[in-house]
Amino acid sequence: MITIALQQLPCPGSYEIESRDPAKPGAFIVHHPQGISAFLNRCPHTGAPLNWQPDQFLDFEQKHILCSLHGALFRSQDGFCIAGPCQGQSLEPVPIRIEQNQIQIDFNPGV
Ligand code: FES
Repeated sequence: MITIALQQLPCPGSYEIESRDPAKPGAFIVHHPQGISAFLNRCPHTGAPLNWQPDQFLDFEQKHILCSLHGALFRSQDGFCIAGPCQGQSLEPVPIRIEQNQIQIDFNPGV
């Protein structure tokens, strides 16, 4: 379980949680107008990480999640791919909970 202060994550914005296990993907959190979501950092197209820059997962308009490799776009609220080579597939969600202005992410970054 990882905890991040809500004020660390502006809206719109995204935050990366790197994996310490090279065999496991990392995760990321997105703060969007509908709330906060978290996903594994693994594109359904090839399994590659979505971002090239740390903490940067949103498109230019800060509306959708963008895969930097081939440009797939995913809805921020549920990770559903609306455009690109994996259209119709989804990012894998990571459970989160918000308590007392803390975001709790059910993700183990590894050893
Ligand atoms: S790896 Fe994400 S769109 Fe190809």
